[in-house]
Amino acid sequence: SAAEKDGHDWFMRKEIFEQPRAVADSLLGRRSRTGRLQLDEMRLSDDELRDIDKIIIIAAGTSFYAGMVAKYAIEHWCRVPVEVELSSEFRYRDPILDYSTLVVAISQSGETADTLQAIRHARTQRSKVLAICNTNGSTIPRESDAVIYTHAGPEIGVASTKGFLTQLVACYLLALYVAQVKGTRYGDEIAEVMHQLEAMPDHVQTVLDGADAVYQLARAHTGTRSVLFLGRHAGYPVALEGALKLKEIAYLHAEGFAAGELKHGPIALVEPGLPVLCVVPPRGRDQLREKMLSGIQEVRARGAQTICLVEEGDDSIGPYADVVIRLPSVPVLLQPLVSVVPLQLFACELATALGHDVDQPRNLAKSVTVE
Ligand code: G6P
Repeated sequence: SAAEKDGHDWFMRKEIFEQPRAVADSLLGRRSRTGRLQLDEMRLSDDELRDIDKIIIIAAGTSFYAGMVAKYAIEHWCRVPVEVELSSEFRYRDPILDYSTLVVAISQSGETADTLQAIRHARTQRSKVLAICNTNGSTIPRESDAVIYTHAGPEIGVASTKGFLTQLVACYLLALYVAQVKGTRYGDEIAEVMHQLEAMPDHVQTVLDGADAVYQLARAHTGTRSVLFLGRHAGYPVALEGALKLKEIAYLHAEGFAAGELKHGPIALVEPGLPVLCVVPPRGRDQLREKMLSGIQEVRARGAQTICLVEEGDDSIGPYADVVIRLPSVPVLLQPLVSVVPLQLFACELATALGHDVDQPRNLAKSVTVE
Protein backbone atom coordinates (compact mmCIF):
# COMPACT_ATOMS: atom_id res chain seq x y z
CA SER A 1 0.00 0.00 0.00
CA ALA A 2 0.98 3.64 -0.34
CA ALA A 3 1.27 3.90 3.45
CA GLU A 4 3.96 1.21 3.59
CA LYS A 5 5.79 3.19 0.93
CA ASP A 6 5.54 6.49 2.80
CA GLY A 7 3.42 7.90 0.00
CA HIS A 8 5.91 6.89 -2.70
CA ASP A 9 4.88 4.82 -5.71
CA TRP A 10 7.63 2.25 -5.22
CA PHE A 11 9.62 0.78 -2.38
CA MET A 12 12.69 1.55 -4.43
CA ARG A 13 11.89 5.25 -4.51
CA LYS A 14 11.11 5.22 -0.79
CA GLU A 15 14.44 3.50 -0.14
CA ILE A 16 16.33 6.03 -2.28
CA PHE A 17 14.85 8.80 -0.14
CA GLU A 18 15.70 6.95 3.07
CA GLN A 19 19.39 7.09 2.24
CA PRO A 20 20.36 10.11 4.37
CA ARG A 21 18.93 8.31 7.40
CA ALA A 22 20.44 4.96 6.43
CA VAL A 23 23.89 6.48 6.03
CA ALA A 24 23.56 8.28 9.37
CA ASP A 25 22.43 5.07 11.09
CA SER A 26 25.38 3.14 9.65
CA LEU A 27 27.74 5.76 11.10
CA LEU A 28 26.09 5.84 14.50
CA GLY A 29 28.14 4.90 17.55
CA ARG A 30 31.34 4.24 15.63
CA ARG A 31 33.45 6.67 17.64
CA SER A 32 34.52 6.22 21.22
CA ARG A 33 34.63 9.15 23.64
CA THR A 34 38.33 9.59 22.95
CA GLY A 35 37.56 9.91 19.24
CA ARG A 36 38.95 6.51 18.29
CA LEU A 37 37.01 4.56 15.72
CA GLN A 38 35.32 1.48 17.17
CA LEU A 39 33.51 -1.35 15.42
CA ASP A 40 31.61 -3.14 18.16
CA GLU A 41 30.32 -6.16 16.26
CA MET A 42 33.73 -6.75 14.72
CA ARG A 43 34.92 -10.00 16.24
CA LEU A 44 38.51 -9.82 14.97
CA SER A 45 41.18 -8.71 17.41
CA ASP A 46 43.61 -5.92 16.63
CA ASP A 47 46.40 -8.51 16.61
CA GLU A 48 44.58 -10.58 14.04
CA LEU A 49 44.04 -7.49 11.89
CA ARG A 50 47.68 -6.41 12.18
CA ASP A 51 48.74 -9.75 10.71
CA ILE A 52 46.63 -9.28 7.58
CA ASP A 53 48.79 -8.63 4.52
CA LYS A 54 46.17 -9.01 1.77
CA ILE A 55 42.46 -8.42 1.49
CA ILE A 56 40.17 -10.14 -1.01
CA ILE A 57 36.68 -8.73 -1.38
CA ILE A 58 33.99 -11.01 -2.77
CA ALA A 59 30.48 -9.99 -3.71
CA ALA A 60 27.85 -10.07 -6.45
CA GLY A 61 25.80 -7.46 -8.27
CA THR A 62 25.62 -4.03 -6.69
CA SER A 63 27.58 -5.27 -3.68
CA PHE A 64 30.48 -6.02 -6.01
CA TYR A 65 30.61 -2.37 -7.04
CA ALA A 66 30.74 -1.34 -3.38
CA GLY A 67 33.73 -3.68 -3.18
CA MET A 68 35.40 -1.92 -6.09
CA VAL A 69 35.08 1.41 -4.29
CA ALA A 70 36.43 -0.23 -1.12
CA LYS A 71 39.59 -1.25 -2.94
CA TYR A 72 40.42 2.40 -3.71
CA ALA A 73 39.79 3.41 -0.08
CA ILE A 74 41.55 0.50 1.65
CA GLU A 75 44.66 0.62 -0.52
CA HIS A 76 44.92 4.39 -0.11
CA TRP A 77 44.38 4.55 3.64
CA CYS A 78 45.87 1.21 4.74
CA ARG A 79 48.53 0.39 2.13
CA VAL A 80 47.28 -3.21 2.09
CA PRO A 81 46.80 -4.80 -1.34
CA VAL A 82 43.16 -5.53 -2.17
CA GLU A 83 41.63 -7.75 -4.82
CA VAL A 84 37.96 -7.56 -5.69
CA GLU A 85 36.40 -10.65 -7.16
CA LEU A 86 32.93 -11.74 -8.19
CA SER A 87 31.74 -14.46 -5.82
CA SER A 88 30.83 -16.69 -8.73
CA GLU A 89 34.38 -16.58 -10.12
CA PHE A 90 36.29 -16.76 -6.88
CA ARG A 91 36.39 -20.45 -6.01
CA TYR A 92 36.94 -21.63 -9.53
CA ARG A 93 40.22 -19.86 -10.11
CA ASP A 94 41.93 -21.57 -7.15
CA PRO A 95 42.64 -18.29 -5.33
CA ILE A 96 45.78 -17.89 -3.25
CA LEU A 97 44.64 -17.70 0.35
CA ASP A 98 46.12 -18.27 3.78
CA TYR A 99 45.77 -17.17 7.39
CA SER A 100 47.16 -13.71 6.60
CA THR A 101 44.47 -13.05 3.98
CA LEU A 102 41.32 -11.29 5.09
CA VAL A 103 38.33 -12.15 2.93
CA VAL A 104 35.60 -9.51 3.03
CA ALA A 105 32.21 -10.75 1.83
CA ILE A 106 29.75 -7.97 1.01
CA SER A 107 26.10 -8.99 0.82
CA GLN A 108 22.97 -6.97 1.52
CA SER A 109 20.81 -10.06 2.03
CA GLY A 110 23.42 -12.33 3.56
CA GLU A 111 21.97 -15.19 1.52
CA THR A 112 23.57 -14.98 -1.93
CA ALA A 113 24.59 -18.56 -2.72
CA ASP A 114 27.76 -17.78 -4.67
CA THR A 115 29.03 -15.50 -1.92
CA LEU A 116 28.24 -18.09 0.74
CA GLN A 117 30.11 -20.80 -1.17
CA ALA A 118 33.04 -18.45 -1.64
CA ILE A 119 33.39 -17.76 2.09
CA ARG A 120 33.11 -21.46 2.88
CA HIS A 121 35.98 -22.07 0.51
CA ALA A 122 38.06 -19.25 2.04
CA ARG A 123 37.60 -20.67 5.52
CA THR A 124 38.79 -24.11 4.43
CA GLN A 125 42.00 -22.29 3.41
CA ARG A 126 42.30 -20.83 6.94
CA SER A 127 41.54 -17.26 5.86
CA LYS A 128 39.58 -15.02 8.17
CA VAL A 129 36.24 -13.92 6.77
CA LEU A 130 34.55 -10.62 7.57
CA ALA A 131 30.98 -10.09 6.36
CA ILE A 132 29.49 -6.69 5.53
CA CYS A 133 25.80 -7.39 5.68
CA ASN A 134 22.43 -5.69 6.12
CA THR A 135 20.47 -8.65 7.47
CA ASN A 136 20.95 -9.63 11.09
CA GLY A 137 21.36 -13.33 11.66
CA SER A 138 21.47 -14.24 7.98
CA THR A 139 23.64 -17.11 6.76
CA ILE A 140 26.69 -15.18 5.54
CA PRO A 141 27.43 -13.32 8.81
CA ARG A 142 26.66 -16.52 10.76
CA GLU A 143 29.31 -18.38 8.82
CA SER A 144 31.88 -15.57 9.00
CA ASP A 145 34.52 -14.85 11.65
CA ALA A 146 33.43 -11.24 11.98
CA VAL A 147 30.75 -8.89 10.73
CA ILE A 148 30.07 -5.24 10.21
CA TYR A 149 26.34 -4.70 9.94
CA THR A 150 24.98 -1.99 7.72
CA HIS A 151 21.96 -0.24 9.15
CA ALA A 152 19.88 0.45 6.08
CA GLY A 153 16.76 -1.23 7.47
CA PRO A 154 14.92 -3.80 5.37
CA GLU A 155 15.39 -3.31 1.64
CA ILE A 156 12.34 -4.42 -0.35
CA GLY A 157 13.01 -3.09 -3.87
CA VAL A 158 14.83 -5.76 -5.86
CA ALA A 159 17.36 -3.24 -7.15
CA SER A 160 19.64 -2.29 -4.27
CA THR A 161 19.92 1.41 -3.33
CA LYS A 162 20.22 2.18 0.37
CA GLY A 163 21.90 -1.20 0.73
CA PHE A 164 24.66 0.06 -1.55
CA LEU A 165 25.20 3.40 0.20
CA THR A 166 25.44 1.75 3.59
CA GLN A 167 27.84 -0.87 2.22
CA LEU A 168 30.05 1.99 1.09
CA VAL A 169 29.91 3.45 4.60
CA ALA A 170 30.85 0.08 6.14
CA CYS A 171 33.75 -0.27 3.69
CA TYR A 172 35.07 3.20 4.60
CA LEU A 173 34.76 2.35 8.29
CA LEU A 174 36.61 -0.91 7.79
CA ALA A 175 39.35 0.86 5.85
CA LEU A 176 39.77 3.53 8.52
CA TYR A 177 39.72 0.92 11.26
CA VAL A 178 42.46 -1.13 9.61
CA ALA A 179 44.46 2.08 9.10
CA GLN A 180 44.04 2.87 12.79
CA VAL A 181 45.11 -0.62 13.91
CA LYS A 182 48.05 -0.81 11.53
CA GLY A 183 49.05 2.77 12.22
CA THR A 184 49.31 3.63 8.53
CA ARG A 185 47.39 6.87 8.99
CA TYR A 186 47.66 9.45 11.72
CA GLY A 187 44.77 9.61 14.12
CA ASP A 188 43.88 13.16 13.14
CA GLU A 189 43.63 12.17 9.50
CA ILE A 190 41.23 9.35 10.41
CA ALA A 191 39.21 11.80 12.51
CA GLU A 192 39.11 14.19 9.56
CA VAL A 193 37.65 11.52 7.26
CA MET A 194 35.13 10.58 9.97
CA HIS A 195 34.02 14.23 10.02
CA GLN A 196 33.64 14.17 6.26
CA LEU A 197 31.63 10.95 6.51
CA GLU A 198 29.39 12.44 9.16
CA ALA A 199 28.56 15.28 6.76
CA MET A 200 27.43 12.80 4.09
CA PRO A 201 23.78 12.39 5.18
CA ASP A 202 23.27 16.12 4.56
CA HIS A 203 25.05 15.94 1.22
CA VAL A 204 22.91 12.98 0.12
CA GLN A 205 19.84 14.99 1.14
CA THR A 206 21.02 17.91 -1.01
CA VAL A 207 21.20 15.59 -4.02
CA LEU A 208 17.71 14.25 -3.27
CA ASP A 209 16.39 17.81 -3.05
CA GLY A 210 17.34 18.15 -6.70
CA ALA A 211 15.41 15.03 -7.76
CA ASP A 212 12.93 16.91 -9.98
CA ALA A 213 15.56 17.94 -12.50
CA VAL A 214 16.77 14.33 -12.74
CA TYR A 215 13.20 13.09 -13.16
CA GLN A 216 12.64 15.54 -16.03
CA LEU A 217 15.79 14.32 -17.67
CA ALA A 218 14.70 10.69 -17.26
CA ARG A 219 11.27 11.37 -18.77
CA ALA A 220 12.95 12.95 -21.77
CA HIS A 221 14.73 9.65 -22.42
CA THR A 222 11.86 7.18 -22.78
CA GLY A 223 12.76 6.75 -26.44
CA THR A 224 16.40 5.96 -25.73
CA ARG A 225 17.63 2.48 -26.59
CA SER A 226 21.07 2.60 -25.08
CA VAL A 227 22.91 4.63 -22.44
CA LEU A 228 26.61 4.78 -21.60
CA PHE A 229 28.15 5.70 -18.25
CA LEU A 230 31.71 6.92 -17.80
CA GLY A 231 33.76 7.32 -14.65
CA ARG A 232 37.30 7.19 -13.35
CA HIS A 233 38.83 6.14 -10.03
CA ALA A 234 36.03 5.76 -7.45
CA GLY A 235 33.65 7.08 -10.11
CA TYR A 236 34.26 4.02 -12.28
CA PRO A 237 32.27 1.59 -10.09
CA VAL A 238 29.59 4.29 -9.90
CA ALA A 239 29.37 4.23 -13.71
CA LEU A 240 28.99 0.44 -13.57
CA GLU A 241 26.29 0.73 -10.93
CA GLY A 242 24.42 3.41 -12.91
CA ALA A 243 24.35 1.07 -15.89
CA LEU A 244 23.27 -1.91 -13.79
CA LYS A 245 20.33 0.05 -12.37
CA LEU A 246 19.08 0.84 -15.89
CA LYS A 247 19.38 -2.78 -17.00
CA GLU A 248 17.66 -4.09 -13.89
CA ILE A 249 14.57 -1.92 -13.85
CA ALA A 250 14.32 -0.05 -17.16
CA TYR A 251 15.42 -3.05 -19.30
CA LEU A 252 17.63 -0.74 -21.30
CA HIS A 253 20.94 -1.59 -22.80
CA ALA A 254 23.42 0.27 -20.66
CA GLU A 255 27.13 -0.03 -20.09
CA GLY A 256 29.58 1.56 -17.72
CA PHE A 257 33.19 2.17 -18.67
CA ALA A 258 36.37 3.47 -17.16
CA ALA A 259 36.76 6.72 -19.07
CA GLY A 260 40.39 5.91 -19.83
CA GLU A 261 39.23 2.89 -21.82
CA LEU A 262 37.16 4.97 -24.27
CA LYS A 263 39.74 4.83 -27.03
CA HIS A 264 40.04 1.06 -26.62
CA GLY A 265 36.57 0.38 -27.92
CA PRO A 266 33.63 2.14 -26.33
CA ILE A 267 34.06 5.33 -28.35
CA ALA A 268 33.13 3.31 -31.43
CA LEU A 269 29.65 2.95 -29.96
CA VAL A 270 29.07 6.70 -29.88
CA GLU A 271 26.63 8.00 -32.43
CA PRO A 272 24.70 11.25 -32.58
CA GLY A 273 22.22 11.60 -29.74
CA LEU A 274 23.56 8.75 -27.58
CA PRO A 275 23.20 9.77 -23.93
CA VAL A 276 26.46 9.45 -22.02
CA LEU A 277 26.36 10.01 -18.26
CA CYS A 278 29.71 11.16 -16.97
CA VAL A 279 30.83 11.15 -13.33
CA VAL A 280 33.41 13.94 -13.09
CA PRO A 281 35.97 13.62 -10.26
CA PRO A 282 36.03 16.57 -7.87
CA ARG A 283 38.59 19.37 -7.95
CA GLY A 284 41.61 18.62 -5.86
CA ARG A 285 42.17 15.63 -8.11
CA ASP A 286 42.93 17.75 -11.14
CA GLN A 287 44.85 15.20 -13.15
CA LEU A 288 41.96 12.79 -12.94
CA ARG A 289 39.45 15.52 -13.61
CA GLU A 290 41.22 16.86 -16.67
CA LYS A 291 41.51 13.42 -18.22
CA MET A 292 37.82 12.87 -17.60
CA LEU A 293 37.02 16.22 -19.23
CA SER A 294 38.97 15.30 -22.33
CA GLY A 295 37.03 12.02 -22.57
CA ILE A 296 33.81 14.00 -22.34
CA GLN A 297 34.98 16.32 -25.12
CA GLU A 298 35.73 13.36 -27.32
CA VAL A 299 32.34 11.72 -27.00
CA ARG A 300 30.64 15.07 -27.43
CA ALA A 301 32.63 15.77 -30.60
CA ARG A 302 31.09 12.56 -31.97
CA GLY A 303 27.57 13.73 -31.25
CA ALA A 304 26.89 12.18 -27.85
CA GLN A 305 24.54 13.95 -25.49
CA THR A 306 26.74 14.48 -22.43
CA ILE A 307 25.02 14.45 -19.06
CA CYS A 308 27.65 15.38 -16.51
CA LEU A 309 27.65 14.91 -12.75
CA VAL A 310 29.92 17.68 -11.55
CA GLU A 311 30.96 19.12 -8.22
CA GLU A 312 29.28 22.43 -7.41
CA GLY A 313 31.38 25.42 -8.33
CA ASP A 314 33.36 23.49 -10.96
CA ASP A 315 32.73 25.38 -14.20
CA SER A 316 35.47 23.77 -16.26
CA ILE A 317 32.92 21.44 -17.83
CA GLY A 318 31.58 24.57 -19.59
CA PRO A 319 30.71 23.89 -23.19
CA TYR A 320 31.21 20.12 -23.06
CA ALA A 321 28.13 19.31 -21.01
CA ASP A 322 24.68 19.26 -22.55
CA VAL A 323 23.21 18.73 -19.11
CA VAL A 324 24.87 19.39 -15.75
CA ILE A 325 23.81 17.68 -12.53
CA ARG A 326 25.45 19.32 -9.53
CA LEU A 327 27.04 17.28 -6.75
CA PRO A 328 28.06 18.52 -3.30
CA SER A 329 31.75 19.12 -2.85
CA VAL A 330 33.29 16.02 -1.23
CA PRO A 331 36.63 14.16 -1.50
CA VAL A 332 37.04 11.81 -4.45
CA LEU A 333 37.03 8.64 -2.34
CA LEU A 334 33.70 9.56 -0.75
CA GLN A 335 32.11 10.91 -3.93
CA PRO A 336 30.29 7.63 -4.78
CA LEU A 337 27.97 8.30 -1.83
CA VAL A 338 26.59 11.33 -3.65
CA SER A 339 27.26 10.59 -7.32
CA VAL A 340 25.32 7.34 -7.43
CA VAL A 341 22.13 8.96 -6.13
CA PRO A 342 21.15 10.84 -9.33
CA LEU A 343 21.78 7.61 -11.25
CA GLN A 344 19.37 5.73 -8.96
CA LEU A 345 16.76 8.48 -9.41
CA PHE A 346 17.29 8.46 -13.17
CA ALA A 347 16.76 4.70 -13.46
CA CYS A 348 13.76 4.69 -11.13
CA GLU A 349 11.99 7.49 -12.98
CA LEU A 350 12.80 6.19 -16.45
CA ALA A 351 11.53 2.70 -15.54
CA THR A 352 8.37 4.26 -14.12
CA ALA A 353 7.82 6.34 -17.25
CA LEU A 354 8.23 3.19 -19.35
CA GLY A 355 5.52 1.51 -17.29
CA HIS A 356 7.65 -1.17 -15.65
CA ASP A 357 7.19 -2.69 -12.22
CA VAL A 358 10.16 -1.08 -10.51
CA ASP A 359 10.00 -3.16 -7.33
CA GLN A 360 9.60 -6.52 -9.07
CA PRO A 361 11.61 -6.37 -12.30
CA ARG A 362 11.15 -9.27 -14.66
CA ASN A 363 13.46 -12.27 -14.29
CA LEU A 364 15.20 -10.93 -11.16
CA ALA A 365 15.07 -11.97 -7.51
CA LYS A 366 15.98 -9.95 -4.44
CA SER A 367 18.44 -12.55 -3.32
CA VAL A 368 19.88 -15.22 -5.55
CA THR A 369 20.00 -18.34 -3.41
CA VAL A 370 21.00 -20.75 -6.17
CA GLU A 371 24.44 -20.85 -7.80
C1 G6P B 1 20.53 -9.57 -6.62
C2 G6P B 1 19.86 -8.25 -6.31
C3 G6P B 1 20.87 -7.12 -6.36
C4 G6P B 1 22.01 -7.43 -5.42
C5 G6P B 1 22.65 -8.79 -5.71
C6 G6P B 1 23.63 -9.20 -4.63
O1 G6P B 1 20.97 -9.56 -7.94
O2 G6P B 1 18.82 -8.00 -7.23
O3 G6P B 1 20.27 -5.89 -5.99
O4 G6P B 1 23.00 -6.42 -5.53
O5 G6P B 1 21.64 -9.80 -5.75
O6 G6P B 1 22.91 -9.43 -3.46
P1 G6P B 1 23.49 -9.40 -2.01
O7 G6P B 1 22.30 -9.61 -1.12
O8 G6P B 1 24.49 -10.51 -1.89
O9 G6P B 1 24.12 -8.07 -1.80
